[in-house]
Amino acid sequence: MVVRFLKQMSAGERPLIYLNNAATSWPKPPGVMEAIAQSLSLPVFGSGRTTGTQGEDYITRARESLSALLGADTPENLVFTHNATDSLNILISGFLAGIKGECHVLTTALDHNSVLRPLYEYDQQHRICLDIIPFEGCSIRPEAAEAAIRPDTRLMVMTHGSNVLGSVQDIRAIGNILHEHGIYFIVDGAQTAGHIPVGLRDLPVDAFIFTGHKGLLGVPGTGGFFLRDPEAIAPVRFGGTGTDSFSLLHPRRMPERFEIGTHNYPGLAALAAGVEFIRETGMGSIMEKAERQTAFLIRELKEESNITIYNEHPDLPIIAFNIGGLQNDDVGFMLARGFNIIARTGLHCAPLVHRAIDGGEGCVRLSLSWNTTDEECRIAADAIRRIARNADSTVGQA
Ligand SMILES: Cc1ncc(COP(=O)(O)O)c(C=O)c1O
Repeated sequence: MVVRFLKQMSAGERPLIYLNNAATSWPKPPGVMEAIAQSLSLPVFGSGRTTGTQGEDYITRARESLSALLGADTPENLVFTHNATDSLNILISGFLAGIKGECHVLTTALDHNSVLRPLYEYDQQHRICLDIIPFEGCSIRPEAAEAAIRPDTRLMVMTHGSNVLGSVQDIRAIGNILHEHGIYFIVDGAQTAGHIPVGLRDLPVDAFIFTGHKGLLGVPGTGGFFLRDPEAIAPVRFGGTGTDSFSLLHPRRMPERFEIGTHNYPGLAALAAGVEFIRETGMGSIMEKAERQTAFLIRELKEESNITIYNEHPDLPIIAFNIGGLQNDDVGFMLARGFNIIARTGLHCAPLVHRAIDGGEGCVRLSLSWNTTDEECRIAADAIRRIARNADSTVGQA
């Protein structure tokens, strides 16, 4: 079927349609590439590390813009790291460093391997006893989180938005329950930061993770976390900061407590530009368009009886589906080679989601961005429906 289909179709001169923004956003908005070039046009190096005075303080600019976007009042509590995965490792290991003996930790079946793998490692080492809360529909019910709590539960780590199902979780309700029981709450906002207002000021979370290269429209290799009470987490990495250099002990004040070595300042210049684009354009208007386009795609795909959509009402611009009679990888291959449409297929680093929705086979994921056009959605819908109709005509012919 794949070969026959590709003989009829060819990506040829078709313009590239990029629908893989939940993996990494592309293209970047105006100002981002320019910010990188500008940051490298002068020998900027950060305070304490140069006698030069020229250039902008990109790090402070990124910290303040992002803090405002996430609704936090204390920019110094926003720490920059390499990405969301790095942040999760720092926070999970830092939190556990302060705990004697084994404790009970919760996560969810919606979570990404960036959460699951660090926790599984500690579970295997008998540092924690891990329980995984299943989802219903596309969500974790706050009552299910409450029912999973034990007297020795100390920590819950969970995603804010599912990278497969595009569902935003009720972290306010879950956080309130956890805090009533004195349980520490780390939220992975890799898929929500930049897409929806977070309101960190009064959100009952202890730490919130972000990555720079997805909805925040910056580049890979940037990310970080907001930490409400820095004393609750032990630093697990130490080194030069350009400050307090006579002291052989790493500074304990924020943000240096968790920031080590030379910053990726071209990356942070890009992050500041991405965040400024979102604030100037308006997150609401970016999301309004994406929601309308997502609804259009879902309506179109539902027209084909052999397409299974796993998330008919996503909160984020993500659509997860399979075509009956075809492997998800083959669908991705045909979209790429036949139509020049880039999606993502497989398990999306979220194996427990797929175990629940498609028997662990994986699916095709489309994810939209600020730059996706109505015309691109129409072309993508036509392409997928055409592949589905072709699949239907070959079912039973093997
Ligand atoms: C929900 C979620 N968490 C964490 C990550 C990891 O992000 P990064 O690659 O920036 O570390 C991703 C990226 O795919 C994600 O979707």
